[in-house]
Amino acid sequence: MKADILLGLQWGDEGKGKIVDVLTPKYDVVARFQGGPNAGHSLEFNNIKHVLHTIPSGVFHESQVNIIGNGVVIDPVIFKKETASIYNLGVDLISKLLISKKAHLILPSHRILDAASEASKGITKIGSTLKGIGPTYMDKTGRNGLRVGDIIQPDFREKYAHLKQKHIDLLRLYNFEYNIEEHEEQWFAGIEEIKRYKLVDSEYEINRLLAAGKKVLAEGAQGTMLDIDFGSYPFVTSSNTISAGACTGLGIAPNRMGEVFGVFKAYCTRVGSGPFPTELLDKTGESLREKGHEFGSTTGRPRRCGWLDLVALKYSIMINGVTQLFMTKADVLSEFDYIRVCTGYKCKGHIVEHLPYDLNDVDSAEYAEFKGWSEDLSQVDNEADIPENLNKYIRFIEKETGLPISVVSLGPDRKQIIFR
Ligand code: GDP
Ligand code: IMO
Ligand code: MG
Repeated sequence: MKADILLGLQWGDEGKGKIVDVLTPKYDVVARFQGGPNAGHSLEFNNIKHVLHTIPSGVFHESQVNIIGNGVVIDPVIFKKETASIYNLGVDLISKLLISKKAHLILPSHRILDAASEASKGITKIGSTLKGIGPTYMDKTGRNGLRVGDIIQPDFREKYAHLKQKHIDLLRLYNFEYNIEEHEEQWFAGIEEIKRYKLVDSEYEINRLLAAGKKVLAEGAQGTMLDIDFGSYPFVTSSNTISAGACTGLGIAPNRMGEVFGVFKAYCTRVGSGPFPTELLDKTGESLREKGHEFGSTTGRPRRCGWLDLVALKYSIMINGVTQLFMTKADVLSEFDYIRVCTGYKCKGHIVEHLPYDLNDVDSAEYAEFKGWSEDLSQVDNEADIPENLNKYIRFIEKETGLPISVVSLGPDRKQIIFR
């Protein structure tokens, strides 16, 4: 059996959590492959709205195995809060969650380093979620990190103290006030929580499950434009958010990968700093934010909003080898007189259809315009009831990308979805 991958094609928050939740009944295993609590994946069902940060979005279905892969970074404090709120909903998490021993740990001092680094950057700051993501992946690649497997070793406390001291030394470079000790009690309580779960060599586990014919869905966090290599560097996150990240983040070989589901919003959003060619700084942008409730699931920050960017979307499709497109939040576009789609960038007087080395070189965006529709789509549950103007918009994107849009999501709830 091959594993399928689901990931975001824009700047994150495409609605990945909702779609994973909807697809989970078709799978035996859902596995997160990168990122950490910078992610906020929202799910809605039976009038419950839930936001997941570290835990895969398959946990609200019976019997599925959920895996936190080696590519993920875990903050024990956030993990403990997350598990508590899941237990409150009556989910028996212990029986269905496996954690890779090779996943790295976010220390309190990683979060402090993140904050110190951002503060030192002033107006050039990344707009990080301040969850310690960058410093933790730095320690991973710098070969200094602490991993989940370390917590059951007798010398864990010493290892922790050693890395903490390294961070204290580093923090001397910054003029930044901090107190690590006040976070440590909760952090070690979080470590005890992690110990309650099955800590596994998840690469063996996943490959065994695949060999046994089980269906695996790899769940990405963030989005392609936030990828450390291919995103709008340096305004990116610190992991590979792309399909290749699912291979390294789970230990699944490329030839064992199947479908790549690319999730995109019918428009674009971005939270944090960095270039955004189709950003709308006017009333239309405000309407998108208001109607789409575009406020960060992790930090509550208002998301920047703009029209769909086909140049960036086609780039993401290429990098990920997307096989099917899933469009979310089409309902938010109801009642706009017109809808625009960026088909090219103007850079130094020339119109280009590729992503320039530096997205800041884009002077303006070129648009195709579509007539809007006035119908409320939140109750539409049949493809035949999709307004013709939305169909025209969908067909245009399909023609431009050469891919089918096989799922259209029309609201946050599990039930608000159309398979085409
Ligand atoms: P993720 O990080 O990709 O999982 O996305 P987020 O959960 O951060 O942000 C997506 C937001 O849009 C959440 O509040 C979802 O509940 C909501 N959402 C998802 N799909 C749809 C949709 O089709 N229509 C509307 N109106 N909201 C949606
Ligand atoms: P999900 O999985 C949207 C953004 C931050 C910041 C940049 C770097 O919910 O789609 P980091 O904390 O990683 O150092 O921040 O990346 N960012 C996200 N934006 N959705 C996310 O995750 C994000 N995770 C990080 O806002 O600009
Ligand atoms: Mg999110």
